[in-house]
Order: sequence, then C-alpha cells, then structure tokens
Amino acid sequence: MRRLLLSLAVLAAPSLALAQSPQDVAEARIGYFRLLGLEMHDLAAMAKGEKDYDAEAAKTHAANLEALTHYSMAALLAPGTSNADLPGKTRALPAIWENMEGVQEKAEAYVAAVQNLNSVAGEGLDQLRPAVGKLGGTCKSCHDDFRAKDF
Ligand code: HEC
Repeated sequence: MRRLLLSLAVLAAPSLALAQSPQDVAEARIGYFRLLGLEMHDLAAMAKGEKDYDAEAAKTHAANLEALTHYSMAALLAPGTSNADLPGKTRALPAIWENMEGVQEKAEAYVAAVQNLNSVAGEGLDQLRPAVGKLGGTCKSCHDDFRAKDF
C-alpha cells in the first residue's frame, strides 16, 4: 500500500483501466483486502486472548502484512470500479476517487501501524496487544470513510 503513494499518477493513464474488466478489478481488490483480514484474524485473536500468544506466528502475520504494503494498489483502484459503477459487487465508495489524498493519508497511517507491529510482534503479548489495537484502528478509520457498510 505504500507504493500507492508513488503510483497514483498511473491512475491518470486510461489504458490501465481497460486492462481488466471493472468487475475483475473489484474482485482482485476484495481479494487483496481479504488477505489483510486473514493475516489480521489470528493477531486479533491473540490480542483478545482468544488464542495463545505465539511469537513466531505473530511475527509471520506481521511480516505478511508488511509484505503486502509493498504491493502497489494503483491497478486495484482503477476508475470505474466503485459501488456506484458496480452495485452489489464491491463496497468501495466513490469517495475514494473523489478524495485520493484522503485515501493516501489513511494508507500512510496504516503502513506506519504495520511497521510498528513488526517491531514488537515477537516481543510478547503485552507488546503485541497495543500494536494490534492501533493497527485495527487504522483499518477501521479507512473503512469508515471509504467502504460501504454492505455490498
Ligand atoms: C486505505 C484504506 C483501507 C485500509 C487501510 C484498510 N482497508 Fe480494508 N477495505 C478498504 C476498502 C475500500 C474495502 C472495500 C473493497 C471493495 O469492496 O472493493 C475494504 C475491504 C476490506 C475487507 C472486505 C473483503 C470483503 O469480503 O468484503 C476486509 C476483510 C478488509 N477490508 C480488511 C482490512 C483489514 C484487516 C485492514 C487492516 C489490517 C484493512 N482492511 C485496511 C479500505 C481499506
């Protein structure tokens, strides 16, 4: 997601939007976010005490989230793929394309929280818990502004 910051100019290139059908783009985007959800799931369970803390597992989930921050979101945010364009197929609000700077800000906060998580994930539950809480807050903050409640 960090590459998002560097790649927004690409959104202006119309050819990119035509590389795949809008629905293909939305499905890929949802897949990307499902990866975040998958990695976050066990971290949240550990933080809540629903799952035993496991330093190696926590480090792996954190590292996977970090790896995904290097994935450029530019193609996933092709114009013409909001929930106004594709009703029932995506929860991405038109606000994303109207306020790309706002999306960038949320993405920056998210990336910082992932980095923070990586610095403490193997250091024990007391360190993991606040880092996961902080990270979850950055997920929610972006969803509040840019994701519809339902499909
Ligand atoms: C920069 C904004 C942003 C951040 C940060 C973000 N998300 Fe999302 N997320 C979205 C948007 C937009 C969608 C809707 C995508 C769509 O439906 O096309 C979404 C969708 C999802 C979905 C739904 C997939 C589905 O089946 O509907 C999950 C799960 C998810 N995000 C998890 C997370 C988690 C976990 C984090 C933090 C670790 C996170 N997201 C961080 C913007 C964000």
